[in-house]
Amino acid sequence: MDNQPTKLALADRMQAHVGRFTDKVFDWKAFPSNVGYEDLARAQMRYIGAGGSPKAGDTSTLKPDNFTVSLIYKEPGKYAACHSHEIEESFLIIDGALIVGWERDGEVVEVNLGPKDMILNARDIGHGFRVDGVEPVMMSISVDVGKPLPPVYLYHPKDTAPELARSFGAEPGKTMHFDRNGTHPLQKQMAQYVVRHSELPTIWEDAGFTRKVYVGKGGIEHDTCRKEMLGIPSRVGVKPFTRDVEDAFLVLEGSLIVGWEENGEKFETELGPRDLLKTPAGQPHWFRNNGASHATVWYIVGNAEAETVKYEKA
Ligand SMILES: [Fe+2]
Repeated sequence: MDNQPTKLALADRMQAHVGRFTDKVFDWKAFPSNVGYEDLARAQMRYIGAGGSPKAGDTSTLKPDNFTVSLIYKEPGKYAACHSHEIEESFLIIDGALIVGWERDGEVVEVNLGPKDMILNARDIGHGFRVDGVEPVMMSISVDVGKPLPPVYLYHPKDTAPELARSFGAEPGKTMHFDRNGTHPLQKQMAQYVVRHSELPTIWEDAGFTRKVYVGKGGIEHDTCRKEMLGIPSRVGVKPFTRDVEDAFLVLEGSLIVGWEENGEKFETELGPRDLLKTPAGQPHWFRNNGASHATVWYIVGNAEAETVKYEKA
């Protein structure tokens, strides 16, 4: 019985690092600058940190180290006014189609992103987004720093004509559609930050699952965090591994058993769609798919160094 308290402590500690979709609520008042502007309405569900919202005191979210994770929900016809940040911010589309616009000097490039596509919004670039499709958009936003500064609004309807704000600052004729091979400087810049799921190589690990690297070696090479999509077939799992930074699994499809290990004790729990586990630096952890269908998992690692883990099949 001597090690019972350790086991309980491990279980409690791990449970405290799980964010369950069903324990959380969407917050329609996360962004004070949207209040009073029906066209800007969006809801935020916070998992790690406050994301781009000022709600840093929310105790139901996990503490951020190097990145935040939230879900954003937006309905057809709504948009987000063009703004910029001092840091990178990624949008991973989960459902629906999202138009993202980048603005510079009154010119805008708009890209249409579908499920599992991602854009990393560059530092200091004016960006906004809009739902023109027939279904709402669910996306996961990560800001690559624990506590980002508030956004700087460039074309907000409080001081910009509504139609100009909706087009992210482009007058008629000043909007370009995204072209990966375009020669305009803004096209060239955006092309480095747009990731299409269908264009990314699928890497088969010897341990029996797939990775697509969105941010990191092979994807957008960057200096902040690594972002990957994992495809884990039924009955595949890996042995415990440890990182010197935190990481997070956000399940998109299927379900995943995740576990922690400490002094020979183990604790595991199942994550379903839109459940998240954050594992702190130095904590041995592993995953296994016990389901009949494959699991698709959005995976964020707290630095952009080359991969140090060699996954071993469990
Ligand atoms: Fe932003």
